[in-house]
Amino acid sequence: MFRGALIIAGLAVILHIGVILISLERVKAKPPLAMPDTTGRVVSQEASSLLKHYGCGGCHYIPGIAGANGKVGPGLEQFANRAYIAGHLPNTPENLVHWLMNPQRLEPGTAMPTMNLTSTEAKLIAGFLYGYDNDAR
Ligand code: HEC
Repeated sequence: MFRGALIIAGLAVILHIGVILISLERVKAKPPLAMPDTTGRVVSQEASSLLKHYGCGGCHYIPGIAGANGKVGPGLEQFANRAYIAGHLPNTPENLVHWLMNPQRLEPGTAMPTMNLTSTEAKLIAGFLYGYDNDAR
């Protein structure tokens, strides 16, 4: 009985160390680099990997992201010049971040799925879409 508990506690400790090591690896693997993209704009390397990771380009045309040619949603070029997000939310950074984090809450039934972006991820992507380099704050 007691030994069983010890073994379980031991396993939990080992698992924990594993998780910590994996997260350290991930932190190391993501240097916050700003690089010029193909359109000559300076973009955050992190934002472009997030756009690829979430597959945004499957539904949207996004300049500067290889293969982002989707036709399901509107093209995201010159996003800063747009008046409204999804046709009705004023295009402010706050609204854009909220939209990216949870489009279904802002417009139930929209074809854009809620992908559970963190606010840091949404801010990075919003910075990219507005065309400036925006490290997570
Ligand atoms: C399954 C397809 C799909 C995916 C995946 C998707 N979107 Fe969308 N997105 C849409 C559709 C459809 C709309 C239009 C929604 C509306 O007007 O109701 C939209 C709207 C938007 C808008 C507002 C555009 C405008 O002009 O109003 C932004 C910004 C946006 N998406 C960014 C993203 C980002 C960033 C990702 C990845 C994290 C993403 N989308 C993933 C389908 C998608």
